[in-house]
Parts: sequence; structure tokens; C-alpha cells
Amino acid sequence: MNANELRSKYIEFFKSKNHVEISGQSLIPENDPSVLFTMAGMHPLVPYLLGEKHPSGTRLTDYQKCIRTGDIEEVGDPSHLTCFEMLGNWSLGDYFKKESIAYSYEFLTSPQWLALDPKKISVTVFAGDENAPRDEEAAQIWKDNGMPEDKIAYLPASDNWWAAGPTGPCGPDTEIFYWVGEGLPPVGSNKGTDSGNWMEIWNNVFMQYNRVDEKTLLPLEKKNVDTGMGLERTNCILQGKTSVYLTEVFQPIIKTIEVLSGYTYGTDEEKDKSVRIIADHTRSSVFILGDQRGVTPDRVGAGYVLRRLIRRAVRHGMKLGIEKDFMAEIAATVIENFKGPYPELEANREKVYKELTAEEAKFRLTLKKGEAEFQKLLPNLMKNPKKIISGKVAYNLYETYGYPLELTQELGAENGFTVDVEGFKEAERKHQEASKTVDAGAAKGGLAEQSEVTTKYHTATHLLQQALVNVLGDQVAQKGSNINNERMRFDFTFERPMTKEEIQKVEDIVNEKIKEDLPVTMEVMPLDKAKAEGARALFTNKYGEDVKVYTIGRDAKSDWFSKEVCGGPHVQHTAQIGDFKIQKEQSSSAGVRRIRAVISGGLPLDK
Ligand code: SER
Repeated sequence: MNANELRSKYIEFFKSKNHVEISGQSLIPENDPSVLFTMAGMHPLVPYLLGEKHPSGTRLTDYQKCIRTGDIEEVGDPSHLTCFEMLGNWSLGDYFKKESIAYSYEFLTSPQWLALDPKKISVTVFAGDENAPRDEEAAQIWKDNGMPEDKIAYLPASDNWWAAGPTGPCGPDTEIFYWVGEGLPPVGSNKGTDSGNWMEIWNNVFMQYNRVDEKTLLPLEKKNVDTGMGLERTNCILQGKTSVYLTEVFQPIIKTIEVLSGYTYGTDEEKDKSVRIIADHTRSSVFILGDQRGVTPDRVGAGYVLRRLIRRAVRHGMKLGIEKDFMAEIAATVIENFKGPYPELEANREKVYKELTAEEAKFRLTLKKGEAEFQKLLPNLMKNPKKIISGKVAYNLYETYGYPLELTQELGAENGFTVDVEGFKEAERKHQEASKTVDAGAAKGGLAEQSEVTTKYHTATHLLQQALVNVLGDQVAQKGSNINNERMRFDFTFERPMTKEEIQKVEDIVNEKIKEDLPVTMEVMPLDKAKAEGARALFTNKYGEDVKVYTIGRDAKSDWFSKEVCGGPHVQHTAQIGDFKIQKEQSSSAGVRRIRAVISGGLPLDK
């Protein structure tokens, strides 16, 4: 079996259990200031896990591209990835623990499906704490399915409680592990007794609660199931391989790196690590740039993460001795291998090449500047009799010029210096602490925070987009939006700054539509019908898939101002938005403008 077959089988299995296949979504979450990227298959489903009705029903399945860069510096070992696919199935107030566990076990072990050896499978369940009791129910269901008692480990919330963010839907989970040690697992071996030899492949979360704040956990009206299976890892164990990089998911990428560098993978541990970093980071960069709502390298936010991925890959390319720009060449292999399940990569092929090459060039220039700066510092450094470059100086070169520590070490060594690496790390740690505080602030609202204010901003976004099209023309396309309780930001394609008059006109149109107090209505229909009716849609859904269409206007068929495919939620009528004011219009990146706007007043939402 290969990854493509596994993906199809998974979907096919859950379809046979009456699930509807839905489309995975963009990597860039819409209207969610708390996360930079979609980090789990369930992220796009948060509103539905909190009770909103899903257009495709109560049993859903999909595959979702995800980015997790929390531990980017650790990537390079044989199993960690910054970009991965998650296979998922959901019950929205439909079945619960019994069916969920039975389905998972059947899919994994049935000869008709994955046919994994039950002896090599063990599980964990929630041990219980002050928030919720020990999950005896899940454990009993496992036993009823044939799982021996000694293969069930009861672990605390740090292992067996899943939450998407500081607030929002959450609950105990049961995780499924596969034996990756030699032969068969010894009697009594499970994740609790022998952590290193068991690899997690699937997580079934029983979402029974909504965390409202630090102290308050409320039971959800409807109990949900959210499961996520790691595609690359499961594919790896199905093939009996020891590393995801040895599977067909990464092999073509590694082959391309071998050709570019002349190095053969598997001959030198240090160089292998560089190959893995290049493979993983290039794949992530291609997925981020080639996303339906793709971002470009930037100094902040998701764009900054992308920049770091690209630069780290280039740096390791240099270590392997690749002299020329190479990212676009590897990108071609990535696109070739993933355009089937992710057609947006093909659609954005040129953009991916262009941005990668531009960023690579920028980085090489940065390195030159860093080197020049080092030469400037040299006479002063020479005065230091111990010939040590302080951590502060090295960190400053890195922070200000993007000049990597290893290069400072190299240049230093050429001139007889050593670098105070501990001091560098100390300076880095201080810096990270400062930026973590900022991150925590950004995440305070929590992933699931859909307050009244953010709902109002969301509807204002739809009005703004239509107003922009009316004033500036059809070349205006949404590039991203970001909402919190204080303001909205809206990025759109447009070649030049807007004039004062244009800004005023757009603001006036939005306010006029608010004053007209137009009804906001929602209808579920297949995507092709939505498009035929003139609805604006991002390239995220499959043809024929049922989607929600939000219309702002007196009549959803004949007299409307805005119509968009969108998950919602929205206000019921536009007077609930209040006064709309554009505060700023500025450049966001080449060919993209950014508007910052605020709303105030407005009627309360109907309950
Ligand atoms: N939300 C869970 C996870 O990400 C299961 O999908 O692991």
C-alpha cells in the first residue's frame, strides 16, 4: 500500500459507514487570529463541533493538510514533520465512543482494510482528574473489541485530553499506537510501560465539553467525535519502514536533492539530517505558497514562519554543497507528487517557483550583508585577547542580518575566534521569551472564540469585499482576512494604492448597506449551483459538494448585494454591524493591499 491508496481507503471505509466526504480546507485559517496555520484536521470544523449545523450532515470524513512548526528546530530526525496530512472522521452529535472505537479497530485490523496485526496495537485512555472521570467506558469498549487489559494504558490529561486551543471544544481521548520495536511486543508492554517503542497513529477525541475559560468546563449539548490519523506515519508502518523519509511520500524529493547535491542519502548521518530538513521544509513551503489562501514570505506572522522554513532549507542546501538556487527544482517534484490530492498546488505552480526563487536570492544577499557586517566588526573583535566572539554579538548578527550562528562560527574560526554558543543561546532564549508573551496574547481569545463582535466583523468583511469590487473592479480578490475583537484586516489583490476618494466611496457603500438593514440569509447547496448563482468561492471545495452560501440582500435570488460560499457565522441583519470605518489602506506585499477597519455600535444579535 502507498499513501495515495491509504488516503482513498480511509475515505472509502468511512463512506461505507455512512460518512460524507468533505473537502479539506486552506492551511491559513479564516478569521481566526489565534493560530497562524491549520494544525489539525478538526480546526476547520470547530464551529460545527460547537453546535452549528454542518451542510453535509452529522457523519463526516476528509483529509486535511496541516502545518505545525512549534518545534521547527527539532525537525530533521526521522519522524518529525512540519507539514503532514491528517485523515479524519467526525460525528457531530451522531455516534459516540462505541462506534468510534469499533470503526477504528475494524479499519486497522480487518483483512479487507489495513490488516494490521492486532498484537502490535495498544491504546491509551484518559486516567481521570478533577475535570472529568477516568474513561472506564472507552476502556470497556476496547476490551469488548478484543483489546487485552495489559495493552490499555491509563494516562493523565497531558496525554489523553485534547483541546484545540485555550478555549473551545475538548474532551478525553483514546490514542492508538503501533509497535515499532523488534519482533512482537513483550507481554505487558504498552505506551505507559514502554513509551519509545510505540508510535501514535490515531487519536479519537470524545468532545463532550466546551472550555469557556480557565475554570469553566461546560458539557456540550451534543457529544461529538473527532478523530485524526497521521497519514505519513501510518503509511510508514504499513510498509514496515523505520522512517517516513524512506517511504514514497519523501523518496522522490530526496532523489531530487541527491541529484542537486551529488550526495547519496544514507551515507553520513549529519548530511542525512540536512537532506531531511530540506525535504520537509521545501514540502511545507510549497504547501504554504501553493495554498488556496497562500501567504508569501514576510517579517511577521505566517509569512515569517514560511521565510524561516525557506531559509533553513537553503542553509542546509549550502551545507550539502549546492551552490545555485535550488528550491524551485525541488518544488517541481513536490508539486508533481501531490497535485492529485491537492490541485491548488498545480494552479499556483508559477507563484510557488517565483516566490521561492525570490526568497532564496534575498537570503543569499542577507548572507552577504551579514558577512560584510562581520568584517566591519573584525578590527574591534581583534582587540579581545581571548579571541572569543560574545553570544550577544553573534545573536545580533543573526537577529538583525539573519546571519546564522554556524556561519559566524565559520567566519570566526577563519580568523582564529571561537563563539560563545552558550551566550548565543541565552540571548536567543531571552528573545523567545519576549515573543512568546506576544503569542500568548494573540491566542488569548482561543480558537473557538466566536464572540458577537467577531461575528459582526465577519459580515462586515463580506460587505467590504463587494464594495471594493464595485469601486475598483473585478481584479479585486480576497487574499486573506484576519479578525479579532478590536479590528478587521482585509487583504486583496490590487496593483496600486487606493485614492482618498476610492476609500471614502468604499466606506460609504458599506455604511449604506448597513443602514439599509439588509437581511443575511444562508442556504445549503452544491458548490456548482452556488457558483452558477454568482456566489464568490475560494478554491477550497470539491465540485458538487454541499456548501453554505451566505447572501446579504432583500431577496437571495433576485435582489442581493453580496453572495459568498462561507462557513459563517454571520449577523442576522446588517444593522447589527454598526458604524463602519476604514482606518488604514496600505501595501501588504507586491500586488496586495491591506485595509484595516473598525466597527462600533450596532444592534445586538438575536438569540
Ligand atoms: N484533534 C485530534 C488531533 O489533532 C484528532 O483529530 O490529534
